[in-house]
Amino acid sequence: MADTLPVDLLAGRPALVVGGGRMGLAIAQILAAAGIAVTVVEPCAATRETAHERLTQIFRLRAQPEERAVVVKVVADIAEGPPDVAIAFEAAPENVELKQSIFGRLEQLCPADAILATNTSVIPVHRIAAQVRDKSRVVGAHFWNPPYVVRLVEVVRSEGTSEETMERAIAILAAVGQRPVRVNKDIPGFIGNRLQHALKREAIALVQAGVCDAETVDTVVKASFGARLGIMGPLEQSDLVGLSLTLAIHEVILADLDASTAPQKLLVDLVAAGHTGAATGRGFRSWTPESRAELQTRLDRALGGRKGEKS
Ligand SMILES: NC(=O)c1ccc[n+]([C@@H]2O[C@H](COP(=O)([O-])OP(=O)(O)OC[C@H]3O[C@@H](n4cnc5c(N)ncnc54)[C@H](O)[C@@H]3O)[C@@H](O)[C@H]2O)c1
Repeated sequence: MADTLPVDLLAGRPALVVGGGRMGLAIAQILAAAGIAVTVVEPCAATRETAHERLTQIFRLRAQPEERAVVVKVVADIAEGPPDVAIAFEAAPENVELKQSIFGRLEQLCPADAILATNTSVIPVHRIAAQVRDKSRVVGAHFWNPPYVVRLVEVVRSEGTSEETMERAIAILAAVGQRPVRVNKDIPGFIGNRLQHALKREAIALVQAGVCDAETVDTVVKASFGARLGIMGPLEQSDLVGLSLTLAIHEVILADLDASTAPQKLLVDLVAAGHTGAATGRGFRSWTPESRAELQTRLDRALGGRKGEKS
């Protein structure tokens, strides 16, 4: 990654990030570290107060000059942002009405040629941009958490997104060190979350049906195909072993896989009982504060070791 961006990409213009939470602040850090002036819009005063401290922490974690954190401005409203924004990343809570109102204001307040990008996890981009008049500049930019470690960004072509917007968004994301991929259809969950949740649906179904417990599901994934997924994708793996094997397996197994079209009872019951995961001591698995911290540390170490990896 270059220390400063090629001038023609943003023409020296600033970026806007709407939402100063977990994702918004990390996206702002990535942009600032690449030499882009960034303004973060965060309506919550308490969150604004801790923003620079959290930004500094990310700079430190990435061994990047933390004095750059001060180039990130944090404001309460989009109207306080700079007038010449080149690209806006929306990273507000996952609520379609809220995101629609933000996009309405972005269209009103950003220059007509500014790219308007949303970091939504699963909401189709066209729903978020329903009220935007010029849809040619709207695009999905789905980062993963934490984005400075998990570099993929799904760049989603929505209804009306121009090829120029796709290309500019991809060029900017690549220039700041991310790994953009094209998503050609604006469908719920894009690519990564569809794959991830297809796996989770079957995992929950197996536990619910009494085939095994949750710990066994996790062990099977981690100790079998999960171990190779970072090296070899599922379709590469199919090609490598030969497609006739995948065909033979699918002829037997597909009709038997879970096909629930609504959240499964096990998940609904756990949430209703307040067993919402590690923070409460119980979810699919049982947790202590120590076991939660230990898993987070192991994950950070493992992912941190792969920061520069290209595949
Ligand atoms: N956390 C993840 O793992 C992850 C990964 C990829 C994408 N996303 C998506 O990114 C988006 C943000 O997620 P997050 O985890 O950062 O959430 P978060 O709750 O940490 O941050 C959201 C921030 O937006 C602020 N906000 C609320 N209303 C706002 C408004 N009107 N204008 C501007 N800001 C407003 C909140 O105060 C909060 O600080 C969501 O769409 C989420 O689905 C999250």
